[in-house]
Amino acid sequence: MNDDTPDSMQELADVLQDVRRHLLWQEETAGRSLLVDAKVAAELQQQRAAASSVRTMIARTKAPEPAAAPTPPRPPAESPSRDTLHAAMKQPLGAARPLAAARPLAPEAPAMLLDVPQSTPRYNGALPGVVEGERPTLDQIRRELGDCRRCKLCTGRKNIVFGSGNPRADLVFVGEGPGENEDLQGVPFVGAAGDLLTKMIGAMGFTRNDVYIANVVKCRPPGNRNPEPDEIAACEPFLRSQLLAIQPKVIVALGKFAAQTLLRDTTPITRMRGQWREYEGIQLMPTFHPAYLLRNSAEKRKAWEDLQQVMKLFGKHPGSSA
Ligand code: URA
Repeated sequence: MNDDTPDSMQELADVLQDVRRHLLWQEETAGRSLLVDAKVAAELQQQRAAASSVRTMIARTKAPEPAAAPTPPRPPAESPSRDTLHAAMKQPLGAARPLAAARPLAPEAPAMLLDVPQSTPRYNGALPGVVEGERPTLDQIRRELGDCRRCKLCTGRKNIVFGSGNPRADLVFVGEGPGENEDLQGVPFVGAAGDLLTKMIGAMGFTRNDVYIANVVKCRPPGNRNPEPDEIAACEPFLRSQLLAIQPKVIVALGKFAAQTLLRDTTPITRMRGQWREYEGIQLMPTFHPAYLLRNSAEKRKAWEDLQQVMKLFGKHPGSSA
């Protein structure tokens, strides 16, 4: 076969692009410069400038939109006990305040959580729906997304699951991607994992209408498989735009895909969870994904500890009644 066919050239270009992304990632995360040629170094410089301009944009747009309705004051939350989340799992959806006996901490996390995927490609272009110097609205971003055909997930989806909740939420939850129920309804977290997430939100003293819920990918991966790097790369800019539009105080990253994508960090979720991080100036708490908690109920205790840290940040003092 002729190596100079357009396909092989394209493959070569893709490989070079992957290598460049990998070098950039290593350079940023490990603090080591692995750059070997001046051209790549110049590109890195440009990309840093682009990232800094996004940060400037976030800083400039921090003030609320005049037309936006203020977030309604939330009723003071009861202080749930340390075992609230665990108890919440046992309650029917809608029964917000749990009560249960303590469980011992879970043993070591299973191996599936420790396998680290390839680093997610960086996104350095203009954010979709974002006009430089202006805070975007979720409607603008949704319009920009349109009837998206940017990745192969579009072929199997029934509905795009854009996100739901308060567009001015102080607290945003980011999941992985829609499952079957979400795909059918076009709403995130409405299946079994969604029921658990709703209980977790309730146990924290919020409702789903107080917070905003989004996913790393907006179309269902076939058979609920993990989203692939190209799919994440295609969809991630929309998530970043959504976060720029909402400007929450806190993001809870549910599971490794949310945490690793937003933080550009391939550390396993078992090690990242429970440690405050920062995403574009916003506090981010990585924790376990509700679907994982459904399969590993002994880990719910740790997830609840993570969520309690978030509650503290909102002045909810969860530990006081423990
Ligand atoms: N799991 C996710 O990560 N997101 C959903 O919307 C539903 C299940």
